[in-house]
Amino acid sequence: MTKRFFAVLLSVLPLAALASSEGGLLPSHANINDQASLQRGATHFMDYCAGCHSLQYQRYSRLAKDLGLSEEQVNAFLNRNGAKFADTVVASMTPADATVWLGKAPPDLSLVARNKPGGADWTYNFLKSFYVDEGRPAGWNNLLLPNASMPHVLWELQGIQRPIYESGEGEAKVAHLQLVSPGTLSAEQYDAFARDLTAFLQYVGEPAALERESIGVWVLLFLVFLTLLTWLLKHEYWRDVH
Ligand code: HEC
Repeated sequence: MTKRFFAVLLSVLPLAALASSEGGLLPSHANINDQASLQRGATHFMDYCAGCHSLQYQRYSRLAKDLGLSEEQVNAFLNRNGAKFADTVVASMTPADATVWLGKAPPDLSLVARNKPGGADWTYNFLKSFYVDEGRPAGWNNLLLPNASMPHVLWELQGIQRPIYESGEGEAKVAHLQLVSPGTLSAEQYDAFARDLTAFLQYVGEPAALERESIGVWVLLFLVFLTLLTWLLKHEYWRDVH
């Protein structure tokens, strides 16, 4: 029995390692239980993303509850277009205008941190992978989303990255990106900025995860208690048998 268990365990271990290194994404270390990080991420989102992207399942009232903010704070710091407290987050720009301007309507970001391969780490790496590309209409490209229609809206913070190509025959492939002009944030600060945004989008993808994790602790404690009780009960029964 134990032998078989270990055999199965050994056979899935390499798979687990493979899954965790999905596509060479850097780990975001985003933490949805860090409320200060979620608050910063929400502010960043409203500052830099909500102009184009909506969050169609996310209500301001729910944000207040989950991020530990009052209605007044949400209206002062997060609600930028006079939406009602019970409304969902709607992009300031209409999809039609965005399509004219960018050639593509910006997708709703409610589920992006769940739907991409690599989960939330994808979003984090996406925000770090913009580079200048004169061949693109907006002048930007992205390693994770080739020919992306999204301009690098955070370039003033991160600075400007240029692609360094792999030497060799055939089609030019980007080996890595090099920061050629620094932004207002240091590399560490930009990573933290991207991490907060990623944590926020991960939370938005599944707000119930916050509750589930806190319930999880109680479920485990309950199971421990139940095990103890069953054990005591067993002793009680067997006492009569002996
Ligand atoms: C000027 C408008 C604009 C702004 C501002 C903007 N985006 Fe985008 N974004 C787009 C467009 C357009 C696309 C679609 C790109 C494509 O598929 O080519 C996109 C795509 C994305 C995607 C990929 C979604 C998918 O399903 O493939 C992510 C993630 C994303 N944006 C995150 C952000 C974040 C985070 C911010 C704020 C820091 C932001 N965007 C700000 C226009 C914008």
